[in-house]
Amino acid sequence: MKSIVILISGRGSNMEALLGAHLRARIAAVISNNVDAKGLAIAAARGVTTEVVNHRHYDSRESFDQRLAQCIEGYRPDLVILAGFMRILTDGFVESFKNRLINIHPSLLPAFPGTNTHRRALQEGVKIHGCTVHFVTPALDSGPIIAQAAVPVFDDDSESTLAARVVQQEHRLLPEVVRWFLDDRLRVDGRRVALAGTYAPAAFLISPALQ
Ligand code: GRF
Repeated sequence: MKSIVILISGRGSNMEALLGAHLRARIAAVISNNVDAKGLAIAAARGVTTEVVNHRHYDSRESFDQRLAQCIEGYRPDLVILAGFMRILTDGFVESFKNRLINIHPSLLPAFPGTNTHRRALQEGVKIHGCTVHFVTPALDSGPIIAQAAVPVFDDDSESTLAARVVQQEHRLLPEVVRWFLDDRLRVDGRRVALAGTYAPAAFLISPALQ
């Protein structure tokens, strides 16, 4: 059975969605850079091993990433998932997990990489927003896109109503992509990721709220 390590920094709702998804894989550990991450308690309550590698205890990004990589590799994971992990990782770290490191990002990339995606989406007046799961490469939020889910943006949306609509889709999209990975269905060819077998893209095109 394949094994997975999940990295979180905060609430951990995407991690929770993964834990509840009955994946055919072992969740070997949940690791956080933040000792106060709420998700740690959720994981521990479900009997999942948790670890903290506190970035504040390291004087450089390199030394933090080295320790983090060592901690992750101790679990020999087939897949490492950044599920709300809020640290930028060094190129060396990313290279060492090539094609087995994925991230969930709360926008339809390549629009709105980085932080405050919902605020920026509202400021730009976009009518469709959403989330993206992608393989991680050294450049921030720009690795090969695996899948996306879209939601409408309404005139009376606030940052928090929009965030709530997007995160609901994140909780559907991330476990689905992880299943594809576990079933060896993903093929990376340059910037494009192809999915072997049957794909029902309609499930991800737009939020059920609009249908
Ligand atoms: C999610 O919106 C994720 O896409 C972003 O940070 C948020 C984390 O939420 N990177 P949670 O910790 O999974 O609840």
